[in-house]
Amino acid sequence: MNRHDIALIGFGGVNRALAEIIHTRGQDLSDEIGFELRVVAITDLRLGSLMRTEGIDLGTALTLPDGVTFASMPGGAAVPQNDFVIRSTTADIVVEATYTNPVDGEPAVSHVRAALQSGKSVTTTNKGPVALAGAELNRIAVEHGMRFEYEGSVMSGTPVLSFASRVLPGLRVSGVQGILNGTSNYVLGQMETGMTLADAVAEAQALGYAEADPTADIEGSDVQLKVVILANEILGANITTADVERQGISRITPEDIAEAAADGRRWKLIGAARRDPDGRIIATVEPVALPLTHPLAGITGPTNAVSFDTDLLGTVTVSGPGAGRTETGYALLSDIIAIDAHQRAAAEALR
Ligand code: HSE
Repeated sequence: MNRHDIALIGFGGVNRALAEIIHTRGQDLSDEIGFELRVVAITDLRLGSLMRTEGIDLGTALTLPDGVTFASMPGGAAVPQNDFVIRSTTADIVVEATYTNPVDGEPAVSHVRAALQSGKSVTTTNKGPVALAGAELNRIAVEHGMRFEYEGSVMSGTPVLSFASRVLPGLRVSGVQGILNGTSNYVLGQMETGMTLADAVAEAQALGYAEADPTADIEGSDVQLKVVILANEILGANITTADVERQGISRITPEDIAEAAADGRRWKLIGAARRDPDGRIIATVEPVALPLTHPLAGITGPTNAVSFDTDLLGTVTVSGPGAGRTETGYALLSDIIAIDAHQRAAAEALR
């Protein structure tokens, strides 16, 4: 059976979730996806680094007691060695899931660039590298014959990007709009039950929905990055965050929520991008009080949804989980499966 060796950059909630899927599903997973997956390197700011060409014991790595670093395991070191691991690992796929700055996308942009330049395909769930450096990184991937996959950058494991690229071809998409942030959607729902914004944010953090800095969720900058990704991927735009007007939900008060409810409406944070008749891209993030009859009004909790406005099908909506550790870990697995499929097709074409 074919095998992929992978290196995990970052060992927080998302890469841990991927490691747990690989560890707990074991041979059943290999039988389902048609290849084996072996983790040969992990590097993490708090835990240090671990490299084992014969494969890491994930059971032990996943259950290290608090305060214990990888130095206690064979092949381990107490300090992170991100660049060393990326460039020298025997892995053929690098999985990038670090805590990344939403303003410049670092350190993820540098990690992805280095991995692609070292002849490794990359999957990431970080929005920064895709929204802020997607064109450059995709070009480097093509130049090196590698794949750069990022399904989890929008709507976690719900395959909205592959839906758009594989299912919608032949349709003209004039606009996209949706609920693109699980945390703010969860928070608005909890505020409808009388909870304060601060308490609801704390709950969303505990549930693993929120960013490392939840301001990005509440003030709309997380959605801003996702709107850039959707506009560039689906509308063929070439925009950046400065082109997306942004307003978050921090100014929504309990009174606003009560007024909307009395009027048969519900507040939602909506990210949208459309091409106007002149071909210009109009992109926004803003709270909107939707009538309860609107298809996006019923999307609750950490669920996300995106509607595509198309010429031949009208409006098509995809909904599903938009946040969560396991859901986002699954996005990485789906990207690895896509990388394997591309490699198989390329090998077949050479025969
Ligand atoms: N913090 C994000 C959210 C995670 O709440 O949607 C997924 O990008």
